[in-house]
Amino acid sequence: MSKVKFYYGDSVPLEMHKVRIVQKLNLPPIERRLEAMTEAGFNTFLLKNRDVFMDMLTDSGVNAMSDRQQAAMLEADDSYAGSETYTKLENKIEEIFGKKYFLPTHQGRACENIISQAFVTKGSIVPMNYHFTTTKAHIVLNGGTVEEIFEDEALNITSKHPFKGNMNIAKLKDLIETNGAEKIAFVRLEAGTNLIGGQPFAVENMKEVRKVCDEYGLMLVLDASLLADNLYFIKEREENCKDMSIREITREIADLSDLIYFSARKLGCARGGGICTNNEEIYLKMREYITLYEGFLTYGGMSVREMEAITIGLDETMDENMINQGPQFISYMTDQLLNRGVPVVTPAGGLGCHINAMEFVGHIPQSEYPAGALAAALYIVSGVRGMERGTLSEQRDEDGNETLSQMELVRLAMPRRVFTLSQVKYAVDRIAWLYENRHLISGLKFIDEPNVLRFFFGKLSTTTDWPSQLVAKFREDFGESL
Ligand code: F0G
Repeated sequence: MSKVKFYYGDSVPLEMHKVRIVQKLNLPPIERRLEAMTEAGFNTFLLKNRDVFMDMLTDSGVNAMSDRQQAAMLEADDSYAGSETYTKLENKIEEIFGKKYFLPTHQGRACENIISQAFVTKGSIVPMNYHFTTTKAHIVLNGGTVEEIFEDEALNITSKHPFKGNMNIAKLKDLIETNGAEKIAFVRLEAGTNLIGGQPFAVENMKEVRKVCDEYGLMLVLDASLLADNLYFIKEREENCKDMSIREITREIADLSDLIYFSARKLGCARGGGICTNNEEIYLKMREYITLYEGFLTYGGMSVREMEAITIGLDETMDENMINQGPQFISYMTDQLLNRGVPVVTPAGGLGCHINAMEFVGHIPQSEYPAGALAAALYIVSGVRGMERGTLSEQRDEDGNETLSQMELVRLAMPRRVFTLSQVKYAVDRIAWLYENRHLISGLKFIDEPNVLRFFFGKLSTTTDWPSQLVAKFREDFGESL
């Protein structure tokens, strides 16, 4: 994506890559889509890919790889211990983040398991700018609690704040003073804060967080899974960083962190994960868990081919023309939806375009999962698969009561370099049509509800026969069209 200005017409994001391998897509008719959604228990996680036209569920493990990544995968050095491929990855981590100890894992949540086992004990508290589902689950599993220390603006759906992922420094200090620093396992900053709409933090804010950590002797942990988007926003929006290269900004952020972990299903556009640090003591505390849960220290559950792809992917992440594709497509989609009056999270963040279900289907009570119902309805009318990020993604409390989410979002992830602009326009068209017909959508209720991470495997049904009415209206307006 370049900063090319168009002479005629509106400027649109211009891809700085060309497509050389394609995968055929299938768009089943709406009647089959309704059938597929019913089979999936109105849970988009349970749809089969063959029934999906645009898979906007996640950007995790589904970003397009580059020719350089594919080529590197062919020369991977397979061995249980001491693989050359591992050494290349370890060196790349040191080159980019300046961290000399690297622990490989099979994906991001594996890092969270290991970090939580090593540093979280019963009663400990982990302050963070916002939680992520798997992060919180691991901390809670180890007896800890999560405290979200965000700025008030973070939960304002429509905002102009450039850094909604910032931590509130006064609240952080207050939390530490109230509970005592010894209770704090570590402070966690999440780049490209996932659950509030892929919103970034500023380097300036991170420096303030670092100061507090130094004052109280606390470890600062960076979840860098969505760092690529955050880097782009820092470069675009933070005055002090305008003249810095992406590499320089990365290094500044890394130097402020004691420990960095990442899902390489996102960062590096492959599949895997890892933890890095310069602190030997921290490293040694975690090392044994890698061999226990992941694999030997030179692969950590990853295939060598994926490690080769991550090494190149991390290198390519340092290229502004690579990392700006996601945010610019998301910004385009967000603007198009805003033009049609659809309520979306602003400013447009990274990761994906986020629809505000609380407003889109404001007539559905939170106890009937408005974001889940909207995600199901959107699939039925378009074949576009999004993800519920609201009450359904929460867990019930100890007494079995619903924990109502602060936000009800449908996330439409934008895997990097995967979709074309015309596909994005198609999605916008169907979302806008659905918005005009939103009164037809009603709620969902569980028919099979797992206790843990229920949004992954839970099955639901509709509170009324609203999907049939939606299909009938679609046929009325679109005729024979898919
Ligand atoms: N941290 C963040 C900020 C994430 O977004 C994710 C995954 C993880 C950790 C866990 O990494 O999936 O490799 O185990 N997010 C995915 C998503 C699942 O769809 O947003 P993982």
